[in-house]
Amino acid sequence: MEINLVTKVWSVDNDVENIQSCTQIVDAARLLHAGEAVAFPTETVYGLGANALSNEAVEKIFAAKGRPSDNPLIVHIGERQQLSTVAGEVPEKGQKLMDAFWPGPLTVIVPKNEHVASLVTAGLDSVGVRMPAHPVALALIKQAGVPIAAPSANRSGRPSPTTAAHVLADLDGRVAGIVDGGATGVGVESTVIDVTVEPPVILRPGGITREQLESVIGPVELDPSFEVGAVETPRAPGMKYTHYAPEGELWLVAGSEEQARIKMAELLSQAKIDGQKTGVLATEEWAGYWRDHEAADVVLTVGAQADLEQVAQQLYAVLREFDNQQVQFIVGETFSREGLGMAVMNRLEKAAGGRILSV
Ligand code: TXA
Ligand code: MG
Repeated sequence: MEINLVTKVWSVDNDVENIQSCTQIVDAARLLHAGEAVAFPTETVYGLGANALSNEAVEKIFAAKGRPSDNPLIVHIGERQQLSTVAGEVPEKGQKLMDAFWPGPLTVIVPKNEHVASLVTAGLDSVGVRMPAHPVALALIKQAGVPIAAPSANRSGRPSPTTAAHVLADLDGRVAGIVDGGATGVGVESTVIDVTVEPPVILRPGGITREQLESVIGPVELDPSFEVGAVETPRAPGMKYTHYAPEGELWLVAGSEEQARIKMAELLSQAKIDGQKTGVLATEEWAGYWRDHEAADVVLTVGAQADLEQVAQQLYAVLREFDNQQVQFIVGETFSREGLGMAVMNRLEKAAGGRILSV
């Protein structure tokens, strides 16, 4: 479909008092209320929002992103009472998780009601809901007065946007507007947990860790698709697509540090012989080593091995930077799967599209 819009950009100061009544938020909310698609910051990544009660509005999200329509969207609410606009009866464990982690990076899959637009749920009888912990997102949703369906505001398949500039790079001319609230904090998307089954199942690892969830509701299961080495089809429809991928070919090398580095160097040297521009996605610890290495043209660091919060925050921006520098072949270091590491490794493995070597 041909889309030819003039994309408005509003800059909002996150710390301003009475944010909900500032003109930028009022303007953006009016467009959302009128059925347009508008991008906005959350604490995880930027989302591309539209009225979750209108198929016509939600259709604009799919069109702008080029997103397959069998992949359901998360509904964002600005206050707890808005839950009933899209959800049916919420199981007790779902309530407990909402009490503990909202507003915050947790999406809870619950039974849907008849009001939520069918395109949002892609025909499922459940709906994913979250209340984001970002002052701009909360103000915008409340001001719009309707629940807001929002996937990440990237072209389908690209790394999720963590700044308004990333959104503009992907969606300029394809959406009505972008609210710029600066860089996002968490950097990877929300955790998705299905509480319509017992025990609840994590469908996507994210900003809230398994350990945090279990401290509130007891044992939860992991979708088999992202246990290490598994090949089963994922249950969250979105997890089956190639995602977060840079344009260059990304390879991950896991194993003992010593051997991983030897293998990475081998891959880089071969790529150089093939005439490609090469890159290394490096940890702080090894950045110096790679900068001195003759086969590495571009070395970008995502943070220290031990600081997974920093790694999560920078991961998508770094993947995009390889594209900006037109790197054709990238090797990446790997991280622990503890805590936030599970989300980091899940996104890296998706970005690599299965190109993972164990040495
Ligand atoms: O942090 C986030 O969650 C960001 C920000 C913008 O809030 N949003 C986001 O949305 O990542 P999206 O559409 O890129 O990812 C939604 C994920 C997909 O994997 C989708 O398949 C899954 O949630 N999902 C949504 N509704 C579902 C449902 N009813 N049942 C199972 N999975 C569902
Ligand atoms: Mg996404």
